Amino acid sequence: MCGIVGYVGRQDAVSLLLAGLHRLEYRGYDSAGVALVSRSGLRVHKSAGRIQRLEATLPKRCKGNVGIAHTRWATHGEPSDANAHPHLDCSGEIAVVHNGIVENYRELRASLEAAGHAFRSDTDSEVLAHLVEAAYRGDLEQAVREALLAVQGTYGIAVVDGRHPDRIVAARNGSPVVIGIGEREMFVASDVAALVRHTQKIVYLDDREVAAIEASGFRTTTLEDEPTSKSPATVAWGHEAYDRGAHPHFMLKEILEQPDACERTLKGRLDAQFGTAHLGGLNLSARDLLDIRRVKILGCGSAYYAGIAGAHMLETLARIPSDAEAASEFRYRNPVIEKDTLYVAVSQSGETADTLAAVREVRRKGGRVLGIVNTVGSSIARECDGGIYMHAGPEVAVASTKAFTATLLCTALLALHLGRVRDLSAGDGKRLIAALVRIPEQVRTVLQERERIRAVAAKYKDRASAFFIGRTHAYPVALEGAQKLKEISYIHAEAYPASELKHGPLALVSPETPTFVVLPHDDLYEKSLSSIEEVRARRGPVIAITHPGDERLATKVDDVLLVPRTEPVLSSILLTIPLQLLAYEAAVALGRDVDQPRNLAKSVTVE
Ligand code: AGP
Repeated sequence: MCGIVGYVGRQDAVSLLLAGLHRLEYRGYDSAGVALVSRSGLRVHKSAGRIQRLEATLPKRCKGNVGIAHTRWATHGEPSDANAHPHLDCSGEIAVVHNGIVENYRELRASLEAAGHAFRSDTDSEVLAHLVEAAYRGDLEQAVREALLAVQGTYGIAVVDGRHPDRIVAARNGSPVVIGIGEREMFVASDVAALVRHTQKIVYLDDREVAAIEASGFRTTTLEDEPTSKSPATVAWGHEAYDRGAHPHFMLKEILEQPDACERTLKGRLDAQFGTAHLGGLNLSARDLLDIRRVKILGCGSAYYAGIAGAHMLETLARIPSDAEAASEFRYRNPVIEKDTLYVAVSQSGETADTLAAVREVRRKGGRVLGIVNTVGSSIARECDGGIYMHAGPEVAVASTKAFTATLLCTALLALHLGRVRDLSAGDGKRLIAALVRIPEQVRTVLQERERIRAVAAKYKDRASAFFIGRTHAYPVALEGAQKLKEISYIHAEAYPASELKHGPLALVSPETPTFVVLPHDDLYEKSLSSIEEVRARRGPVIAITHPGDERLATKVDDVLLVPRTEPVLSSILLTIPLQLLAYEAAVALGRDVDQPRNLAKSVTVE
């Protein structure tokens, strides 16, 4: 998705802005640009393609202490030099960078063109520059406010004006904007990753808020010019956490970080004495918990799959009817919101537009939503009634890994907590806690199998497609395994409940199509073995992801990837990890761009 960086201060803005853009590369983009303001006026440089191309085209004497920069992920208009941001008004004095979508841009553009404004791009964003120009009467901040009152849609914007070489005006509605506070210098960005190298002190803008930012400070107002007050927060992670370090890819770094991430997710939350979990941020009393009749988990992509696994844990441990739904669909079916249903929004970034919209839909109708979110201070975290932070640490690779396992742990903790105010016995709670405590070490054990997993990836990497199957709580693992493989290796992969094979997909099973079977040792183990037989009867290769202990298996499957045993309800956490590594190794072997797969963005902040 698009990224914004801005700087006001005494340093050379160009190098700071370009470094900031590089730190946002992980979000995915297809063009980049920069606008610099100095005493000699405003200069804009932009180009399609990578940031390196922009750097190569920048004149050597490109200077300024104030500027804004952008990476664009095309929505309206192809990736091209003209469509890259910043966009200029007709006078060439005002430059705007924009994240989000201006929904009424056609009407706005028609009326601006009728009034004589000349457009240079096919984007929705360019209307913003012309709207500010039309509203400008000497006060940039006021012009931005007025312009935005005409806009329907989402925006995070930063605006500079050649006539005001000392300031940036920023605003937000539905697309994140964060101000970084330095020593006589200020930063603005769409993502803290762009500014953690310079400051840990930040302020998040709220929706319909406008900030006028100068080197010495900032002030914020609503679109209606009412002053607002903001308290700075401290970024939870140092800049090293956003670095790749010695690892070849962020994805590998984040897979390998999982033992530590799991430890952090669990830290301080397990109560071995009473066999329960302490979750301080839920904002729910024991009586509220007793009143819950249903749990619905909402999330997109991998967060949705983690939600399916979480719903299974909740139903098993707390005996509350639970399910998960794709947040991207939820609001469009005019959902019935029940007051005794607990809604849970899952999101690594906390900024996914569809998940945020689902949260708002529930709250608008009077429902209660908890967030399971990784990014502290993100929009979803702030808009939920309470929640559980994952504490997985910054996740940079487009393919989510450690946030997936952290979500499973958070839902296990929630299930334990809810279970213990209901029917789960103290003994069962304690058994679960003992199993949870072992998870980080068991994850380490799985990661030691990397060589074996790499060999399996090498064996199947050239296949055109693959199936992933599993039953009940193994099914979301199959979904996630298929998702990881297709996202980064571009191998077509489909997941099915193992029981569904014979209802259709078996038609496609052949010696060319490997089937990855997620096979926990649970009540359905023998039934899953029957599914394996169905595949073998069609001469389909089978790879089992399972626990040690069944000697028969070696004769029934082509390859086995083992993970340690745990409580069946927690097995999804461990069974997922070989599939993450499998996708990673296949993608590397195929020479794919692992951290920035084609067509995908890290944080999907548009519909
Ligand atoms: C995961 O590998 C994906 N890139 C994607 O499905 C992701 O999980 C989804 O877009 C949700 O993101 P979020 O957790 O930041 O809300």
